[in-house]
Amino acid sequence: MRQDREWPTPQAGSRVQGNECMSEIAERNEPARALELVAFLTDPDSRDLVQSLVFDLELKNVVVRQGGIDDALSFVQSLPSWPHQLLLDIAQSPLPLSDMTRVADIAEPGTRIIVAGDRNDVGLFRDLMQLGVADYLLKPLTPAMLRRGLNFGALASEPTRAPRAGKTLAVIGARGGAGASTLACGLAWQLAHGFSRRTVVVDLDVHNGAVNLVFNLPPSQGLVSALQNASGLDHLGLEKVVTLRGPRLFTLTADIDPRAADPLTPDSLKELLAVLIEHFHYVVLDVPFRSGPLVTSLLEQSDFVILLADPTLLSVRNAARLARGREAASPSQRTILAVNNLAPKTPETLTNAAMEAALGRGIDYTLPYTTGLTKSQNLGRPQDFLPPAYSKAVQDIATGITAGAGKPEEHAPSVWKRIFSN
Ligand SMILES: Nc1ncnc2c1ncn2[C@@H]1O[C@H](COP(=O)(O)OP(=O)(O)O)[C@@H](O)[C@H]1O
Ligand SMILES: [Mg+2]
Repeated sequence: MRQDREWPTPQAGSRVQGNECMSEIAERNEPARALELVAFLTDPDSRDLVQSLVFDLELKNVVVRQGGIDDALSFVQSLPSWPHQLLLDIAQSPLPLSDMTRVADIAEPGTRIIVAGDRNDVGLFRDLMQLGVADYLLKPLTPAMLRRGLNFGALASEPTRAPRAGKTLAVIGARGGAGASTLACGLAWQLAHGFSRRTVVVDLDVHNGAVNLVFNLPPSQGLVSALQNASGLDHLGLEKVVTLRGPRLFTLTADIDPRAADPLTPDSLKELLAVLIEHFHYVVLDVPFRSGPLVTSLLEQSDFVILLADPTLLSVRNAARLARGREAASPSQRTILAVNNLAPKTPETLTNAAMEAALGRGIDYTLPYTTGLTKSQNLGRPQDFLPPAYSKAVQDIATGITAGAGKPEEHAPSVWKRIFSN
């Protein structure tokens, strides 16, 4: 299969110290190894101090530059993935807290962020800690302070765990063929490309999954390996099991013999998801349509469940059942209801109003009937697989998710409830 090479390589002049060049790795379609440390300091003395420490400790895969937060962000965002540690300097930032809020919002969950600055302010320190910053180093910097704050001992081996975690997003159709895989891949594409979020799509159909076909990637058994060793999966182990499909887009899939037993269990998946949210902003689950303990447990764990129903009675009945499985969800967990028009509308098509009445809640998004989807999937051309109308709807869903919310759920009593109860 043809491999597309469309993701940006690091900006010209971004010298990556270390043995391997990021862009070359990306072009081999393998996950690039993250830099150990990126440090941007606003004054030459601080920069030189960090540089000499890096030299003394013979650290590899490190970039030290002079610059402020915007310089650091534009550099880091040009990399295939964020570094294990990021040292930023707020000394020249007029609004340090809002700058750092911006950084915390887009930083990859696995990145440990350390801030240097010249304000001796307990309030600022506390606010930075609340944003998930690992340490605040008061200037002038000293080697001892840097050694302590930067966690150099851990550099070459284990990435340090950050207190921030990504979100799990399950896409499930209300019946087979409702368009869940198409939406899961489209959303992941949007989150990675449109919103610069590090995203992994996990294809939970281990026998006949669609995700690799949609993204034009070769079959993989990464998901099976990941399940077997979830607890031991660190940053490097993860790079071996995921497949890269763009600077921030990864897939985790399996392609096992249709006669073989399903290796997924609620416990093994729970363990795997706990690891994945430490490394990705979004873990998008393509959930095949089926019922049972596995799906129930997935829905319970997901921050967002996108329930996709086509306008048919069967879908409405099943969507009602699935939505009931989310009734115990916490207030921070969202259930997003989307209607997917798989066919052109006819007078017989159920209207959104009829579906809302049946389900006793509002429909959040409506995806239009789109002829180009199947064609681009068949051709394996993912860059074309989101025609404008469909793409707009997916973008709206992604915007809602990155803003932290689906629309508030309505729980109006349904006149159809009796018909749809089990
Ligand atoms: N809005 C839509 N308009 C037209 N075709 C669609 C739409 N959404 C999905 N499809 C097509 O429907 C088929 C089934 O979609 P898929 O995502 O594989 O469903 P599922 O994963 O729920 O089984 C695919 O061929 C896909 O291209
Ligand atoms: Mg599917």
